[in-house]
Amino acid sequence: PVVVVLFGGRSSEHSISSATAGGVLRAIDRDRFRVIPVGITRDGAFVLEDDDPDKFALRPEALPQVVDNGTRVRLPDSTLSREWTVTDADGERSLGEVDVVLPILHGRFGEDGTVQGLLELLGIPYAGGGVLMSAIGMNKHVTKQVLRAANVPVVPWVAVTRADLARDRGLWERRIRALDLPVFVKPNEAGSSVGVTKVSRWEDLDAALDTAFAEDGLVLVEQAIVGRELECGVLPGRDGGPVRVSVAGEIVVTGREFYDFEAKYLDAPGVDLVCPADLRDGELAEMQRIAAHAFEALGGQGLARVDFFYTGSEFYVNEVNTMPGFTPISMFPTCWIASGLSYPDLITDLLEAALE
Ligand code: DAL
Ligand code: MG
Repeated sequence: PVVVVLFGGRSSEHSISSATAGGVLRAIDRDRFRVIPVGITRDGAFVLEDDDPDKFALRPEALPQVVDNGTRVRLPDSTLSREWTVTDADGERSLGEVDVVLPILHGRFGEDGTVQGLLELLGIPYAGGGVLMSAIGMNKHVTKQVLRAANVPVVPWVAVTRADLARDRGLWERRIRALDLPVFVKPNEAGSSVGVTKVSRWEDLDAALDTAFAEDGLVLVEQAIVGRELECGVLPGRDGGPVRVSVAGEIVVTGREFYDFEAKYLDAPGVDLVCPADLRDGELAEMQRIAAHAFEALGGQGLARVDFFYTGSEFYVNEVNTMPGFTPISMFPTCWIASGLSYPDLITDLLEAALE
């Protein structure tokens, strides 16, 4: 089959998606799949990219990105065609018929149902969750509401807009201050901890709100849970079987405030990823049960990394990422490798599910 690997994109996680592409281009089974790498620039142009894993390697000193090289990739113009084309200095030429798209895009305009909708409209098979699941997963506020309705434990939170604060600041401050310190202040739709601040003194709340409002008009203030930070990978069942859940990975924060962007991607010290996490059998089983339930509550398609806080007695779902970081050292693949599914096989698994 012919696969378009679609990456980059217009969100604040453009570079993370590009790094994910580096890993996928290196590992995808070339005996099985013919690959067409298509990058989306930060401005939203679809360009034909180099099939070069090294170009998109995750280097902390210069995060990879898609730069406009002047080419323009065009999708089929209807469901009646599967042919993609590219225009470059020599004119327009065919890229051939495409069987499936692997949209390894993080954040808005990629992980949020918009690209999924475009592909649905054109009848192009794609890997990952569908329109609704992606849209819910991208929206932390709606995710929490859906999970709560499904009896999945979530961390207490207050969602607030600038307009709310302008209308009745006192009311909203009382609601927020009813949470215990410390709290996390987060943009509703963002990822990779962009725009997130941990607030330990109420004097610092306003600055944290401003930082988050710079990313999104809706901001969440969330109770910080004292405990461990654990994650696991989830995939749909094969051949009608039960949902598959990986072993757990743990984020051990020692010398930092929290697992922020610098620790995630810039090699900043103070955070270790441990996989498999040290859990008793009963604890792991409980976490896997909740992860499967959360995944199904959101739609049960594609893939997800379910992130937890664990107090030692209660698991709280922090969020569900429908296109988690997917570089070979990211937690999602690491958890699957520790569960016996190799990185190349994981990619094949996602593509085969999309082609079924
Ligand atoms: N949003 C990032 C890519 C993650 O969840 O891993
Ligand atoms: Mg996330």
